[in-house]
Amino acid sequence: MAFNTDLGKHRKKLERNGYLHLEKVLSNDFIQSLNSCGSQIIASELDEIAEWHIPGKKRQYLYDFSTQSFFDAFREGLSGIIGKLAEEIIISERHIKVYLTEAADFPVPHKDRHAAEFTIGFPIYIPQDSRVCFFPFMSRNENTEQRAVYAEMPDDTKMERFYADDRIVKIKGTVGDMFIFHGSTVFHERIMPAGCMILYIKVNTARQDPLGEHASMMEDFNKRSEVLEVA
Ligand SMILES: [Fe+2]
Repeated sequence: MAFNTDLGKHRKKLERNGYLHLEKVLSNDFIQSLNSCGSQIIASELDEIAEWHIPGKKRQYLYDFSTQSFFDAFREGLSGIIGKLAEEIIISERHIKVYLTEAADFPVPHKDRHAAEFTIGFPIYIPQDSRVCFFPFMSRNENTEQRAVYAEMPDDTKMERFYADDRIVKIKGTVGDMFIFHGSTVFHERIMPAGCMILYIKVNTARQDPLGEHASMMEDFNKRSEVLEVA
């Protein structure tokens, strides 16, 4: 079991708003897996994905769903809230992000790559002042590129002042929660991110796997089941 509740009851609200924060919806197994990843990262036992290191912003690690049955339960749980069959859900990204101490406090908002039809964040550790921000008043045009795009702003924009706008939705969240949003259509960003540790799973139902992270996961599951059969 990945979630402790039927996420499907929140689908309409997600569609209406484009983003959603759900509190205390993860199963104990899922929380344990997140905490264990967090401990391994702190103890330097997990390998960083070197090509995804963004200097001055964050380190990234590949999240392992550990077993196919846990992954199946995860997809089944998401199926209700995104309104698509579980088998159609492709994991285009499964990264644990650790924000560096030098990461900017008030970055320019962005949209995720096209393959992030839905982006789902699972907090592992969130420092006191950090917030994920959504911008419901900004353009909801879909980003059709396979790279993140950033909001265009005048060069002299005072970013801290920009973030004082009351229309910006700011969410803290804690381990056990999730936030889900249309990553490629809704502008979003994290403020005061230094020290944050978050699992980001990005999914789509258009068979897009630009980083090969769904394919590599399925290969791993196949290898493990072959080992079990031989044993
Ligand atoms: Fe993003």
